Amino acid sequence: MERFVVTGGTRLIGEVAVPGAKNSVLKLMAASLLAPGRTVLTAVPDILDVTVMADVLTGLGATVSRHREWETPSGGGAAGGRLCIDMPEDAGGAADGDLVRRIRASVAVLGPLVARRGEARVALPGGDAIGSRALDIHVNGLTQLGAVVDVEDGVLVARTDGRLQGASIWLDFPSVGATENLVMAAVLAKGTTVIDNAAREPEIADLCAMLTAMGAQIGGAGSSTLVVDGVDGLSAVEHETVADRIVAGTYAVGALMTGGDVLIRGGRVEHLAIVLEKLVEAGAQVDVRGDGFRVAGSQRPRSIDVVTLPYPGFPTDLLPQVIALEAISSGTSLITENVFDSRFVFCRELHTLGADLRTDGHHVIVRQAARLTGTRVMASDVRAGAALVLAGLVADGVTEVTEVHHIDRGYAHFVEDLRALGADITRVRDRAVA
Ligand code: EPU
Repeated sequence: MERFVVTGGTRLIGEVAVPGAKNSVLKLMAASLLAPGRTVLTAVPDILDVTVMADVLTGLGATVSRHREWETPSGGGAAGGRLCIDMPEDAGGAADGDLVRRIRASVAVLGPLVARRGEARVALPGGDAIGSRALDIHVNGLTQLGAVVDVEDGVLVARTDGRLQGASIWLDFPSVGATENLVMAAVLAKGTTVIDNAAREPEIADLCAMLTAMGAQIGGAGSSTLVVDGVDGLSAVEHETVADRIVAGTYAVGALMTGGDVLIRGGRVEHLAIVLEKLVEAGAQVDVRGDGFRVAGSQRPRSIDVVTLPYPGFPTDLLPQVIALEAISSGTSLITENVFDSRFVFCRELHTLGADLRTDGHHVIVRQAARLTGTRVMASDVRAGAALVLAGLVADGVTEVTEVHHIDRGYAHFVEDLRALGADITRVRDRAVA
């Protein structure tokens, strides 16, 4: 068991390099199943979820080698290591249930496997406890492409006789995971697939860019209508992962909360347009540079209202960090969550630190707290954990954040990078009791 010990009162000052995005690289890894040969991914973040996804692929017959040496491009790209995936002709079979339950993103192997092998067996996935997170949109879409999908003993089984068939699919909600799964299934289907009300997240555009380099025919990448003309086969390629906008946004919020000044190298302002606009409204100074952007805060932030929505709306994955920001901002703010149904679980922990907040359905009202005071709190998911660390940076005394394996799922070198920015934070390993 590991925890982070944070002593509040320091400002974040300096530079930080943004790695490739967790929510992109995991799908790029799944896409490697679509072609035999060597896929090389760069700007790969050194995070737990990549390790688990690599194990999922290994279980499906791939050979995965990881080169963790951190490459930080000078021109503004994302930082990270390199991952080589050697995919044999006959990769496939059943994805390991224990691994799949550890990360929800592993459901992304469903589309590629059914498209390339005609059968996919994937245990019902796990991931963060932030909502009910159904899979009906994935299943409905695959069914429209001609797959028969059943649940057998807790395992989702998708089968097709022969090739999948292109179809017109309208998503009930612009689900990120369903859009990705369906694009990856459609690239090898016979004929044309149109996916309407598709999710538009930059990570999906990144996946489409890699698939296109592999030989896929995809129109409308990054828009809400994707048109995919199926091809007979794809080739493995090398691809650089897009920068992690949520990690970049987390440091931006941290800079404002601590009255700091941070150059976020590799951060893509165009992927954070609403977020940065909101932070400016809250009092941040944001300067765009060729190799990223700089965020500085000089006074107590002002309260802002925030409503989460699918991209290009305000990202749900920055909601906990913004609630932490609101806890120390002057005034009262109304925060509305529209994507997940239990993201506010973490408010209890923030309240333990002294935050003045009240939840009601999918809203939370946050009033300025007299002060936050350090104590022991628990990370319930990756973003909640990051938000508690930010709160610890501005709390009086010492904050201990437990269950940090959640944070390790999505933030590479978090402690080291925060320390380099001046934070007083250490990782402590509890000794096992015999
Ligand atoms: N939903 C359904 N049915 C479905 C699919 C989704 O009802 O078949 C619902 C979900 O229950 C949820 C909403 O739709 O309420 C959004 O789900 P979506 O499918 O868009 O999200 P996801 O693919 O499961 C990814 C990210 C999340 C991020 C969301 C939204 C990965 C691995 N995860 O999840 O990231 O919050 O998109 O942007 O890409 C995180 O990184 O902390 C994280 C949770």
